Amino acid sequence: MSLSTETFTDICIANTYPEKSQPLSKQLNLSICSESNIEQWLDWVNDKKDSTLKLALCSKKQGPVSIDFLSGKKAHRRQFGGGKGQPLVRAMGQLEQGVPKIIDATAGMGGDSYVLASLGFKVQMIERSPIVAALLNDALTRAIQSLDADLPAELQESIQNLSLVNANSADYLLNNQPDVDVIYMDPMYPEKKKKAAAKKEMQALQQLVGPDLDSEKLLEAALKTAKYRVVVKRPKGADPVYCALNNIQPSSNISSPNTRYDIYVIKALKASGQL
Ligand SMILES: C[S@@+](CC[C@H](N)C(=O)[O-])C[C@H]1O[C@@H](n2cnc3c(N)ncnc32)[C@H](O)[C@@H]1O
Repeated sequence: MSLSTETFTDICIANTYPEKSQPLSKQLNLSICSESNIEQWLDWVNDKKDSTLKLALCSKKQGPVSIDFLSGKKAHRRQFGGGKGQPLVRAMGQLEQGVPKIIDATAGMGGDSYVLASLGFKVQMIERSPIVAALLNDALTRAIQSLDADLPAELQESIQNLSLVNANSADYLLNNQPDVDVIYMDPMYPEKKKKAAAKKEMQALQQLVGPDLDSEKLLEAALKTAKYRVVVKRPKGADPVYCALNNIQPSSNISSPNTRYDIYVIKALKASGQL
């Protein structure tokens, strides 16, 4: 995984495991923690079940947050999340020649990417925060290391369907013009005052990266790159992401109780001359 040069919130790395913290401090250009009065920091936490060390984003408010593809919430969502019938999956569409290749341009904690990967889609995750990307990289590395004959074939396939890049997706798409069918985006929206408490993972992300105020730029880059469709996840009732390019609007959407997936069909936009 190559590293993005964007700068982010000041957090430090605990020196609990110097053999791990020193190289990560160099890689992410973050200092080793020297005082106790800090808001968020990175550390390795021990998984009591299998004694593996996991890189975690820690804070006094939420406790450690790490990513796990093979157990915990993501495994639960894979098993019980509704399979191919769930709105996220239906929003990706179908191609005559097989399942579409996907870029998840806002990978975050990898939840949506993993659902798609576990249903057979090849998913390239792109995340611009080097810290979030380091958490994803740690989870992916651990999952790849545990790929052995004992792991069920469908779990092995899910992990092999995932890859990761640390970059700003708008720049990455425009500079590399990847061959991709669907580009998926789930930008962070500004926190609502009266909203029910976000899940622990999302709270940690909100504190770390804040709202994404440049989704417009990413949508434009995605529309210029995807071959089949762009899908944008929005909260129920929110406006579509504004698109300065011909004021393009979603072609259709798929709704679930709290979420709407706005779908931009590339063929239709090209046929109407908007793209
Ligand atoms: C709401 S979270 C995504 C959550 C994700 N769908 C999941 O299931 O865990 C949004 C993430 O997208 C990242 N992001 C936003 N804009 C981006 C961009 N232009 N390029 C890369 N990452 C971006 C943010 O840093 C944040 O981690």
